[in-house]
Amino acid sequence: MSDLPVMQDGFGRRVEYLRISVTDKCNLRCVYCMPLEGLPWLRREELLSYEEITDIVRVMAAMGLRRLRITGGEPLVRRDLPDLVCQLAGVDGIEDIALSTNAVLLDEQAEALRAAGVRRINVSIDSLDETRMDAIARRPGTLRRVLAGMEAAERVGFEPIKVNVVLMRGHNDDEIAEFAALTRERPWHVRFIELMPTGSNLDLSADAYVPAAEALERVRELGDLEPADGPAGNGPARYFRFPGAPGSVGVITPMSHNYCASCNRMRLTADGQLRPCLFGSQQTNLRDPLRAGADLRPFIEETLRIKPERHFLVQGSDRGSGGLVALSQTGG
Ligand code: 5AD
Ligand code: SF4
Repeated sequence: MSDLPVMQDGFGRRVEYLRISVTDKCNLRCVYCMPLEGLPWLRREELLSYEEITDIVRVMAAMGLRRLRITGGEPLVRRDLPDLVCQLAGVDGIEDIALSTNAVLLDEQAEALRAAGVRRINVSIDSLDETRMDAIARRPGTLRRVLAGMEAAERVGFEPIKVNVVLMRGHNDDEIAEFAALTRERPWHVRFIELMPTGSNLDLSADAYVPAAEALERVRELGDLEPADGPAGNGPARYFRFPGAPGSVGVITPMSHNYCASCNRMRLTADGQLRPCLFGSQQTNLRDPLRAGADLRPFIEETLRIKPERHFLVQGSDRGSGGLVALSQTGG
Protein backbone atom coordinates (compact mmCIF):
# COMPACT_ATOMS: atom_id res chain seq x y z
CA MET A 1 0.00 0.00 0.00
CA SER A 2 1.28 3.39 -0.95
CA ASP A 3 0.74 6.11 1.61
CA LEU A 4 1.12 8.91 -0.92
CA PRO A 5 -1.68 11.44 -0.48
CA VAL A 6 -4.50 11.56 -3.07
CA MET A 7 -7.06 14.23 -3.87
CA GLN A 8 -10.56 12.91 -4.49
CA ASP A 9 -13.68 14.78 -5.44
CA GLY A 10 -17.23 14.17 -4.22
CA PHE A 11 -17.82 11.57 -6.96
CA GLY A 12 -14.72 9.56 -6.10
CA ARG A 13 -12.71 10.86 -9.04
CA ARG A 14 -9.03 11.19 -8.35
CA VAL A 15 -7.68 14.64 -9.20
CA GLU A 16 -3.96 14.76 -9.86
CA TYR A 17 -3.67 17.16 -12.77
CA LEU A 18 -3.76 20.97 -12.73
CA ARG A 19 -3.94 23.29 -15.73
CA ILE A 20 -2.35 26.61 -14.88
CA SER A 21 -3.28 29.67 -16.92
CA VAL A 22 -0.44 32.19 -16.66
CA THR A 23 -2.11 34.98 -18.66
CA ASP A 24 -5.51 35.76 -20.16
CA LYS A 25 -3.87 37.59 -23.08
CA CYS A 26 -3.12 36.15 -26.48
CA ASN A 27 -1.18 37.22 -29.57
CA LEU A 28 -3.83 35.64 -31.86
CA ARG A 29 -7.58 36.17 -32.16
CA CYS A 30 -8.86 32.75 -33.24
CA VAL A 31 -12.44 33.07 -34.45
CA TYR A 32 -13.77 30.43 -32.04
CA CYS A 33 -12.01 31.85 -29.05
CA MET A 34 -11.58 35.58 -28.72
CA PRO A 35 -13.32 38.64 -30.15
CA LEU A 36 -11.15 40.65 -32.56
CA GLU A 37 -11.01 43.57 -30.14
CA GLY A 38 -9.78 41.29 -27.35
CA LEU A 39 -11.32 41.04 -23.88
CA PRO A 40 -11.07 43.26 -20.79
CA TRP A 41 -7.66 42.03 -19.66
CA LEU A 42 -6.76 41.38 -16.05
CA ARG A 43 -4.71 44.09 -14.38
CA ARG A 44 -1.14 43.32 -13.41
CA GLU A 45 -1.83 43.28 -9.68
CA GLU A 46 -4.66 40.81 -10.21
CA LEU A 47 -2.30 38.25 -11.77
CA LEU A 48 -0.61 35.66 -9.61
CA SER A 49 3.16 36.10 -9.53
CA TYR A 50 5.30 33.05 -10.37
CA GLU A 51 6.11 32.71 -6.68
CA GLU A 52 2.38 32.70 -5.83
CA ILE A 53 1.63 30.05 -8.47
CA THR A 54 4.44 27.92 -7.09
CA ASP A 55 3.14 28.35 -3.53
CA ILE A 56 -0.28 27.05 -4.60
CA VAL A 57 1.24 24.12 -6.47
CA ARG A 58 3.35 23.25 -3.43
CA VAL A 59 0.25 23.03 -1.23
CA MET A 60 -1.63 20.95 -3.82
CA ALA A 61 1.34 18.65 -4.46
CA ALA A 62 1.38 17.78 -0.76
CA MET A 63 -2.30 16.82 -1.17
CA GLY A 64 -1.73 14.58 -4.22
CA LEU A 65 -1.20 16.76 -7.28
CA ARG A 66 1.23 15.10 -9.73
CA ARG A 67 1.07 16.69 -13.16
CA LEU A 68 0.88 20.23 -14.50
CA ARG A 69 0.08 21.89 -17.80
CA ILE A 70 0.82 25.55 -18.46
CA THR A 71 -1.76 27.33 -20.58
CA GLY A 72 -3.13 30.84 -21.24
CA GLY A 73 -4.42 32.83 -23.10
CA GLU A 74 -1.11 32.24 -24.80
CA PRO A 75 1.43 31.35 -22.12
CA LEU A 76 4.49 32.38 -24.13
CA VAL A 77 3.41 36.04 -24.11
CA ARG A 78 4.09 36.20 -20.38
CA ARG A 79 7.62 37.28 -19.63
CA ASP A 80 10.28 34.82 -18.40
CA LEU A 81 8.05 31.73 -18.49
CA PRO A 82 11.07 29.38 -18.14
CA ASP A 83 11.59 30.87 -14.65
CA LEU A 84 8.16 29.62 -13.60
CA VAL A 85 8.84 26.20 -15.09
CA CYS A 86 12.10 25.97 -13.12
CA GLN A 87 10.30 26.79 -9.89
CA LEU A 88 7.49 24.29 -10.57
CA ALA A 89 9.94 21.55 -11.55
CA GLY A 90 11.49 21.91 -8.11
CA VAL A 91 8.26 21.20 -6.21
CA ASP A 92 8.26 17.82 -4.43
CA GLY A 93 5.74 15.42 -5.95
CA ILE A 94 5.43 17.11 -9.37
CA GLU A 95 6.34 14.48 -11.97
CA ASP A 96 5.41 16.07 -15.27
CA ILE A 97 5.13 19.59 -16.73
CA ALA A 98 3.52 20.13 -20.13
CA LEU A 99 2.68 23.26 -22.14
CA SER A 100 -0.18 24.24 -24.47
CA THR A 101 0.78 26.96 -26.93
CA ASN A 102 -0.11 28.42 -30.30
CA ALA A 103 3.64 28.12 -31.11
CA VAL A 104 3.93 31.63 -32.58
CA LEU A 105 6.74 32.43 -30.12
CA LEU A 106 8.00 28.88 -29.69
CA ASP A 107 10.91 29.15 -32.11
CA GLU A 108 12.66 31.62 -29.80
CA GLN A 109 11.67 29.98 -26.51
CA ALA A 110 11.69 26.22 -27.14
CA GLU A 111 15.21 25.62 -25.95
CA ALA A 112 14.89 27.56 -22.69
CA LEU A 113 11.55 25.92 -21.91
CA ARG A 114 12.93 22.45 -22.54
CA ALA A 115 15.96 23.17 -20.39
CA ALA A 116 13.72 24.49 -17.60
CA GLY A 117 11.78 21.23 -17.46
CA VAL A 118 8.85 21.27 -19.91
CA ARG A 119 8.68 17.76 -21.31
CA ARG A 120 5.69 17.74 -23.61
CA ILE A 121 3.81 20.28 -25.70
CA ASN A 122 0.46 20.69 -27.39
CA VAL A 123 0.25 23.09 -30.31
CA SER A 124 -2.96 24.48 -31.84
CA ILE A 125 -2.96 24.49 -35.65
CA ASP A 126 -6.34 24.87 -37.30
CA SER A 127 -5.29 24.95 -40.95
CA LEU A 128 -2.30 23.94 -43.06
CA ASP A 129 -3.05 26.69 -45.57
CA GLU A 130 -1.46 30.07 -44.93
CA THR A 131 -4.34 32.27 -46.05
CA ARG A 132 -6.87 30.27 -44.10
CA MET A 133 -4.77 30.07 -40.97
CA ASP A 134 -4.42 33.86 -41.09
CA ALA A 135 -8.19 34.15 -41.49
CA ILE A 136 -8.87 31.84 -38.52
CA ALA A 137 -6.17 33.33 -36.28
CA ARG A 138 -6.84 36.89 -37.55
CA ARG A 139 -3.16 37.81 -37.41
CA PRO A 140 -1.02 37.81 -40.56
CA GLY A 141 1.98 35.50 -40.90
CA THR A 142 0.71 33.04 -38.29
CA LEU A 143 1.25 29.71 -40.05
CA ARG A 144 4.85 30.42 -40.99
CA ARG A 145 5.72 31.20 -37.37
CA VAL A 146 3.79 28.21 -36.04
CA LEU A 147 5.63 25.82 -38.36
CA ALA A 148 8.97 27.34 -37.32
CA GLY A 149 7.87 26.77 -33.72
CA MET A 150 7.03 23.12 -34.45
CA GLU A 151 10.43 22.61 -36.02
CA ALA A 152 12.10 24.08 -32.95
CA ALA A 153 9.98 21.82 -30.74
CA GLU A 154 11.20 18.72 -32.58
CA ARG A 155 14.79 19.97 -32.57
CA VAL A 156 14.97 20.46 -28.80
CA GLY A 157 13.31 17.11 -28.12
CA PHE A 158 9.77 17.69 -26.86
CA GLU A 159 8.09 14.30 -26.94
CA PRO A 160 5.32 13.63 -27.64
CA ILE A 161 4.13 16.56 -29.77
CA LYS A 162 0.35 16.87 -29.91
CA VAL A 163 -1.41 19.01 -32.50
CA ASN A 164 -4.88 20.36 -31.67
CA VAL A 165 -7.27 21.07 -34.53
CA VAL A 166 -10.64 22.63 -33.68
CA LEU A 167 -13.13 21.33 -36.26
CA MET A 168 -15.10 24.03 -38.13
CA ARG A 169 -17.31 23.40 -41.09
CA GLY A 170 -16.43 25.62 -44.04
CA HIS A 171 -13.15 26.65 -42.40
CA ASN A 172 -11.07 23.49 -42.14
CA ASP A 173 -13.27 20.39 -42.43
CA ASP A 174 -11.90 19.76 -45.94
CA GLU A 175 -8.38 19.49 -44.44
CA ILE A 176 -9.15 16.60 -42.10
CA ALA A 177 -7.53 14.00 -44.37
CA GLU A 178 -4.48 16.18 -44.90
CA PHE A 179 -3.98 16.60 -41.16
CA ALA A 180 -4.40 12.88 -40.59
CA ALA A 181 -1.93 12.05 -43.38
CA LEU A 182 0.74 14.01 -41.49
CA THR A 183 0.75 11.30 -38.83
CA ARG A 184 2.13 8.85 -41.39
CA GLU A 185 5.17 11.07 -41.94
CA ARG A 186 5.82 12.61 -38.53
CA PRO A 187 5.57 11.52 -34.90
CA TRP A 188 2.73 13.99 -34.36
CA HIS A 189 -0.47 13.17 -32.52
CA VAL A 190 -3.19 15.10 -34.31
CA ARG A 191 -6.35 15.57 -32.23
CA PHE A 192 -9.58 16.81 -33.73
CA ILE A 193 -11.57 18.81 -31.16
CA GLU A 194 -15.30 19.46 -31.28
CA LEU A 195 -16.11 23.16 -31.19
CA MET A 196 -17.59 24.19 -27.84
CA PRO A 197 -20.01 27.10 -27.45
CA THR A 198 -18.88 30.04 -25.33
CA GLY A 199 -20.29 33.55 -25.01
CA SER A 200 -18.12 34.98 -27.79
CA ASN A 201 -18.63 32.29 -30.47
CA LEU A 202 -22.32 31.37 -30.34
CA ASP A 203 -23.06 31.98 -34.04
CA LEU A 204 -19.96 30.17 -35.19
CA SER A 205 -20.39 27.21 -32.85
CA ALA A 206 -24.01 26.78 -33.95
CA ASP A 207 -23.17 26.97 -37.68
CA ALA A 208 -19.77 25.33 -37.93
CA TYR A 209 -19.92 22.43 -35.44
CA VAL A 210 -18.62 19.16 -36.86
CA PRO A 211 -19.01 15.99 -34.78
CA ALA A 212 -15.74 14.11 -34.33
CA ALA A 213 -17.33 10.91 -35.69
CA GLU A 214 -17.56 12.65 -39.04
CA ALA A 215 -13.87 13.52 -38.91
CA LEU A 216 -12.98 9.89 -38.20
CA GLU A 217 -15.06 8.77 -41.17
CA ARG A 218 -13.09 11.05 -43.44
CA VAL A 219 -9.82 9.80 -41.99
CA ARG A 220 -10.87 6.19 -42.60
CA GLU A 221 -11.24 7.00 -46.30
CA LEU A 222 -7.43 7.26 -46.36
CA GLY A 223 -6.92 3.75 -45.00
CA ASP A 224 -7.76 1.44 -42.11
CA LEU A 225 -7.26 2.78 -38.62
CA GLU A 226 -6.47 0.73 -35.54
CA PRO A 227 -7.21 1.85 -31.96
CA ALA A 228 -4.01 3.12 -30.31
CA ASP A 229 -2.93 3.83 -26.76
CA GLY A 230 -1.98 7.35 -27.65
CA PRO A 231 0.88 9.36 -26.24
CA ALA A 232 1.62 9.96 -22.58
CA GLY A 233 -0.68 12.29 -20.69
CA ASN A 234 -4.05 11.66 -19.22
CA GLY A 235 -6.41 13.60 -21.36
CA PRO A 236 -9.84 12.79 -22.69
CA ALA A 237 -8.72 12.03 -26.28
CA ARG A 238 -9.36 8.63 -27.91
CA TYR A 239 -6.62 7.62 -30.34
CA PHE A 240 -6.27 5.66 -33.57
CA ARG A 241 -3.35 4.93 -35.86
CA PHE A 242 -2.63 4.00 -39.44
CA PRO A 243 -0.71 0.68 -39.14
CA GLY A 244 3.01 1.45 -38.93
CA ALA A 245 2.55 5.24 -38.69
CA PRO A 246 4.84 7.17 -36.31
CA GLY A 247 2.01 9.44 -35.16
CA SER A 248 -1.65 8.98 -34.28
CA VAL A 249 -5.06 10.52 -34.87
CA GLY A 250 -7.21 11.41 -31.87
CA VAL A 251 -10.62 12.86 -31.20
CA ILE A 252 -11.77 15.03 -28.29
CA THR A 253 -15.53 14.99 -28.02
CA PRO A 254 -16.83 17.39 -25.38
CA MET A 255 -20.13 17.81 -27.28
CA SER A 256 -20.99 14.41 -28.75
CA HIS A 257 -19.70 12.22 -25.87
CA ASN A 258 -18.84 13.81 -22.61
CA TYR A 259 -15.95 12.19 -20.79
CA CYS A 260 -16.53 13.84 -17.44
CA ALA A 261 -16.80 10.52 -15.56
CA SER A 262 -13.05 10.08 -15.89
CA CYS A 263 -12.17 13.72 -15.25
CA ASN A 264 -8.88 14.02 -13.37
CA ARG A 265 -8.29 17.77 -13.37
CA MET A 266 -8.80 21.24 -11.98
CA ARG A 267 -7.81 24.63 -13.35
CA LEU A 268 -6.08 27.64 -11.90
CA THR A 269 -6.87 30.94 -13.63
CA ALA A 270 -4.29 33.67 -14.11
CA ASP A 271 -5.89 35.64 -11.27
CA GLY A 272 -5.85 32.77 -8.83
CA GLN A 273 -9.32 31.25 -9.04
CA LEU A 274 -9.29 27.47 -8.62
CA ARG A 275 -11.91 26.04 -10.98
CA PRO A 276 -13.12 22.47 -10.53
CA CYS A 277 -14.57 22.33 -14.07
CA LEU A 278 -13.86 24.06 -17.37
CA PHE A 279 -17.48 25.18 -17.49
CA GLY A 280 -19.96 26.17 -14.85
CA SER A 281 -19.64 29.03 -12.41
CA GLN A 282 -17.91 27.21 -9.54
CA GLN A 283 -14.58 28.64 -8.51
CA THR A 284 -12.65 29.34 -5.34
CA ASN A 285 -10.56 32.43 -4.84
CA LEU A 286 -7.12 31.24 -3.70
CA ARG A 287 -5.33 34.51 -4.35
CA ASP A 288 -6.81 36.53 -1.51
CA PRO A 289 -6.29 33.90 1.20
CA LEU A 290 -2.77 33.31 -0.12
CA ARG A 291 -1.98 37.03 0.05
CA ALA A 292 -3.47 37.14 3.55
CA GLY A 293 -1.18 34.32 4.66
CA ALA A 294 -4.00 31.83 5.25
CA ASP A 295 -3.72 28.03 4.97
CA LEU A 296 -4.97 27.14 1.46
CA ARG A 297 -5.84 23.52 2.21
CA PRO A 298 -9.44 24.09 3.32
CA PHE A 299 -10.10 26.16 0.18
CA ILE A 300 -8.72 23.42 -2.04
CA GLU A 301 -10.70 20.74 -0.19
CA GLU A 302 -13.86 22.77 -0.64
CA THR A 303 -13.19 23.10 -4.39
CA LEU A 304 -12.82 19.33 -4.67
CA ARG A 305 -16.08 18.90 -2.80
CA ILE A 306 -18.02 21.13 -5.23
CA LYS A 307 -16.52 19.70 -8.42
CA PRO A 308 -19.54 19.10 -10.65
CA GLU A 309 -20.33 15.64 -11.97
CA ARG A 310 -20.26 16.86 -15.57
CA HIS A 311 -20.60 19.92 -17.74
CA PHE A 312 -23.99 21.11 -19.00
CA LEU A 313 -23.05 22.64 -22.32
CA VAL A 314 -25.83 23.07 -24.85
CA GLN A 315 -25.15 23.47 -28.56
CA GLY A 316 -25.86 27.01 -29.73
CA SER A 317 -26.24 28.44 -26.24
CA ASP A 318 -24.07 29.88 -23.50
CA ARG A 319 -26.25 28.28 -20.87
CA GLY A 320 -23.98 25.82 -19.14
CA SER A 321 -20.80 27.74 -19.83
CA GLY A 322 -21.11 29.57 -16.54
CA GLY A 323 -20.74 33.00 -18.08
CA LEU A 324 -17.51 32.08 -19.76
CA VAL A 325 -16.91 34.35 -22.73
CA ALA A 326 -13.84 32.54 -24.05
CA LEU A 327 -11.78 29.52 -23.09
CA SER A 328 -8.76 31.84 -22.86
CA GLN A 329 -10.20 32.99 -19.52
CA THR A 330 -9.66 29.59 -17.93
CA GLY A 331 -6.89 28.04 -19.97
CA GLY A 332 -9.04 25.65 -22.03
N1 5AD B 1 -14.01 24.87 -28.61
C1 5AD B 1 -13.08 23.89 -28.78
N2 5AD B 1 -11.77 24.05 -28.57
C2 5AD B 1 -11.36 25.27 -28.17
N3 5AD B 1 -10.14 25.73 -27.88
C3 5AD B 1 -10.26 27.03 -27.50
N4 5AD B 1 -11.55 27.43 -27.55
C4 5AD B 1 -12.27 26.34 -27.97
C5 5AD B 1 -13.65 26.10 -28.21
N5 5AD B 1 -14.55 27.05 -28.03
C6 5AD B 1 -8.93 24.91 -27.99
C7 5AD B 1 -7.71 25.62 -28.50
C8 5AD B 1 -6.57 24.82 -27.91
C9 5AD B 1 -7.20 24.09 -26.75
C10 5AD B 1 -6.56 24.41 -25.44
O1 5AD B 1 -8.56 24.46 -26.71
O2 5AD B 1 -7.61 25.61 -29.90
O3 5AD B 1 -6.08 23.89 -28.83
FE1 SF4 C 1 -13.95 17.66 -16.27
FE2 SF4 C 1 -15.63 19.69 -16.41
FE3 SF4 C 1 -14.11 19.01 -18.50
FE4 SF4 C 1 -16.18 17.44 -17.73
S1 SF4 C 1 -16.24 19.54 -18.57
S2 SF4 C 1 -14.12 16.79 -18.33
S3 SF4 C 1 -16.05 17.70 -15.48
S4 SF4 C 1 -13.40 19.79 -16.55
